[in-house]
Amino acid sequence: MNILVVGGGGREHAIIKKLKEDRRVETVYALPGNGGIAADAVCLGGSAVDIPAVVAAAKVHSVDFVVVAPDDPLVLGMVDALEAEGFPCFGPGKNAAIIEGSKAFSKDLMKKYGIPTAAYETFTDMEAALSYVAACPLPAVVKADGLALGKGVLICETREAAREAVRSMMEGRVFGDSGATVVIEEFLTGPEVSVLSFTDGETVVPMVSSMDHKRVLDGDQGLNTGGMGTVAPNPYYTSEIAAECMEKIFLPTIRAMKAEGRPFRGCLYFGLMLTPDGPRVIEYNCRFGDPETQVVLPLLESSLLEIMLAVSGGRLAETEARFSNKSACCVILASEGYPQKYDRGFPITLPETAADEQVCIAGAAKKDGKLLTSGGRVLGAVAVAEDLPAAIAKAYALADRIHFDNAFCRRDIGQRALKALEEKK
Ligand code: AMP
Ligand code: GLY
Repeated sequence: MNILVVGGGGREHAIIKKLKEDRRVETVYALPGNGGIAADAVCLGGSAVDIPAVVAAAKVHSVDFVVVAPDDPLVLGMVDALEAEGFPCFGPGKNAAIIEGSKAFSKDLMKKYGIPTAAYETFTDMEAALSYVAACPLPAVVKADGLALGKGVLICETREAAREAVRSMMEGRVFGDSGATVVIEEFLTGPEVSVLSFTDGETVVPMVSSMDHKRVLDGDQGLNTGGMGTVAPNPYYTSEIAAECMEKIFLPTIRAMKAEGRPFRGCLYFGLMLTPDGPRVIEYNCRFGDPETQVVLPLLESSLLEIMLAVSGGRLAETEARFSNKSACCVILASEGYPQKYDRGFPITLPETAADEQVCIAGAAKKDGKLLTSGGRVLGAVAVAEDLPAAIAKAYALADRIHFDNAFCRRDIGQRALKALEEKK
């Protein structure tokens, strides 16, 4: 089979590496891909949100199956366009991707179907939002309704900050039209857990849990990023909590989407907070997480291709999705200055990797046969081992064998998880 993977980051590299373990896979095309992904797929370049170009590429290369990985093309309806031309896809259609595309939609869905989440109010009128924050509980969490590269969430400790957040989103449009509607939420506390799941709209199969590290600096300090590293499984996510989430969150969400006439097929990502009152949904994503995918997929023992075909064909209930009991860690190497201004164009030296190690390239370009940095998050050093301490040590040992100028990483990926393991003993 020839497969087209839409996207070009570390997540897509991890997906491509896993797909290629299935012997039925002949050629993988990536659109756009990147200079590092080029070692594993034919990179077509272009733009992941250019729907006509993706449909044309699927035709030209006679692909048998398309995986649409990033949120924006899913929210724009790329899967609908591909399926209309007869290409089977992994990924939700536009009417289901709205679960990530609009926070107002997902909050209203949870309220309607009794799915536990933070209490909230939605506003399309700035004056109404301002008078609400004049008296609401603090801290207040102010969220832009639409996609905002994971940055549209402001946690406001003071009324002044909350007013400023509302103004900057609704009037200043710092997140563009995403801020035309804002959601203001109750502030929750507790460990965060990412649970990615496969679903064909009827059956939901959670993958192994994971923990992201969103802040740029050690000790969860500094600015928010797309994610500086991940570990799996997440030790806070016990089997009791998993059972509770299945009953109160995962199944009710799948059923709610179906009842709304928006059956979700693809990877549904549950961003959860384990509060003192039980698990709550912080956010839904309509896609694989980045860099969660880099630790979750290496632990998948079954064929990813088989599962994706089953999701697309509505046969997930009959398909095996088995995960190993090992642990995985991903350490992101980024360019100094990320998530703000950074330089690019530095040569990357990659080491040989063992079977339980891999490097997922996120931001690199090939020039004259050389791999050069081209993004803020450049790559993820990923390792699998028998337990979490070993996986963390191995991922850092791998990261330390990779070189490019201006590289930096957090040095404490997995430390919170290790503490949680200690507390469990
Ligand atoms: P989101 O983009 O909705 O995932 O939010 C980004 C981050 O903001 C989350 O990963 C949480 O750390 C934090 N956050 C979002 N909503 C809340 C909330 N209601 N209470 C506390 N923290 C939150
Ligand atoms: N790592 C968080 C996300 O993919 O949204």
